[in-house]
Amino acid sequence: MKLNHLRILPILLLAIFIIFQSGCSFINRGNIDRSNLASNENGGTKLSETIMDQEKSTVENPLQEEKKEDRTENSKAGNQIKQVSEIESQTEETSDFQVGKQDNRNEKQTEEIAVESKENRVVSKAPKAEKLGQSKKTSEDAIQVVGQPEVITVLVNKQNKLPDHYAPKDLVYPNVRFIFSGNPEKKKMRKEAARALEKMFAGAEKNGILLAGASGYRSQATQEILYNSYVRRDGKAAADRYSAIPSHSEHQTGLAMDISGINGKCAAMDCFGGSPEADWLAEHSHEYGFIVRYPKGKEHITGYQYEPWHMRYIGIEIAKEIFEKDITLEEYFDEAIPINAGK
Ligand code: DAL
Ligand code: ZN
Repeated sequence: MKLNHLRILPILLLAIFIIFQSGCSFINRGNIDRSNLASNENGGTKLSETIMDQEKSTVENPLQEEKKEDRTENSKAGNQIKQVSEIESQTEETSDFQVGKQDNRNEKQTEEIAVESKENRVVSKAPKAEKLGQSKKTSEDAIQVVGQPEVITVLVNKQNKLPDHYAPKDLVYPNVRFIFSGNPEKKKMRKEAARALEKMFAGAEKNGILLAGASGYRSQATQEILYNSYVRRDGKAAADRYSAIPSHSEHQTGLAMDISGINGKCAAMDCFGGSPEADWLAEHSHEYGFIVRYPKGKEHITGYQYEPWHMRYIGIEIAKEIFEKDITLEEYFDEAIPINAGK
């Protein structure tokens, strides 16, 4: 029996060895498969997270993504200065936003100050052109386009022009006498000026002076036709002394009216000077908010020779100051206009 057992032992050992080997190989293969799976899962998770992050950041802040790309491009190009200025502008935006509330709070105060300065503007010594929204003169020969052509105090002359084809929106027919019939546009004035004209005509009539309208609003096209006809008739140098070039005429503002006596004989002519109507206008028009826009002896300032008939509505307050100080509208706005300007 013992001898038989010894013969079987090597066979048993061999069998145990083979079984053991196969078992380890199976277990190892299982481990490798699991680690592969885990690695794929990890990779998969990371990929999804990256996509989600990108989507998330695109939705939440598209600008930031663009800026990221910009920065990559910039650094590729070595453009670091641009990055710095971008950061600066971002900082400014933040500051503006932060002070926005403060600005809103101050708006009311600013409005109050504006109203107050309007009340005080007759006696104020501050530069008036700026205060009343006029364009500011930058050089003697430069022609400025008026920024706010619709303001009643607008300054239009050889140096300050209206925007091309400007037309006021509130033109009406004043209820006064005219030296012609029908309803052409030259009867019109802006509403506020028209109401003041009616009061002035009524005031003159109480003093026995009968006034008549001769020429009010003119479109830029009409002014062009007129100016060209004067140039053909008298030559440019002479025409420039009494007629504005298109877009430089106060008639285009709807705030001017040429006035004559009711017979119309001296309408817009030198012989109107010294007439009872001209004298009355020179003495009383400011009471209604009008000024004699081109006074005698002021051609070097206004750019135009004496026109006792050309009345400009500017509002009672300013008209009164101009009358009392015996100054022109240019002087009121601290601006002297060279007579050759605008040619
Ligand atoms: N007669 C004035 C200057 C004008 O043409 O507007
Ligand atoms: Zn005129």
